[in-house]
Amino acid sequence: AQVTITDREAALAFLKSNVQANLPRDLQPRAEVKELTWGQNLASFSTGEYDFILGADIVYLEETFADLLQTLDHLSADHTVILLSCRLRYERDQNFLTMLKGIFSVREVHYDPGNDIHIFKAQ
Ligand SMILES: C[S@@+](CC[C@H](N)C(=O)[O-])C[C@H]1O[C@@H](n2cnc3c(N)ncnc32)[C@H](O)[C@@H]1O
Repeated sequence: AQVTITDREAALAFLKSNVQANLPRDLQPRAEVKELTWGQNLASFSTGEYDFILGADIVYLEETFADLLQTLDHLSADHTVILLSCRLRYERDQNFLTMLKGIFSVREVHYDPGNDIHIFKAQ
């Protein structure tokens, strides 16, 4: 696969060093590290360019929910599968799921009771 890994500017150096430490050298060109602050400069990401969007533990800051949703909406086309893994720590985290269901078809595809982690699929 060709993969784009994103985070805010402050985390990019750490992210790049993780890619270097964890990917065999010949695979590193397939992993692009790119700045993305949800809701900002979305035009630098083409709609429908991604088959899968994977988000691990990114649903926890209520003030970012609208921007995160806008970002997922911008990046997705009909063929895109979004997988979000999260722990639903607070009632407000359910609000994000409600918002997500307003735009996408959402279903829970996995629950790990040992770690209390849900995986939701949105399309
Ligand atoms: C709890 S960490 C999870 C990191 C990683 N996915 C993992 O599972 O270890 C949440 C990540 O979301 C990023 N993040 C928080 N607010 C953001 C925003 N507004 N735009 C983009 N990324 C954000 C943080 O920088 C952090 O890397």
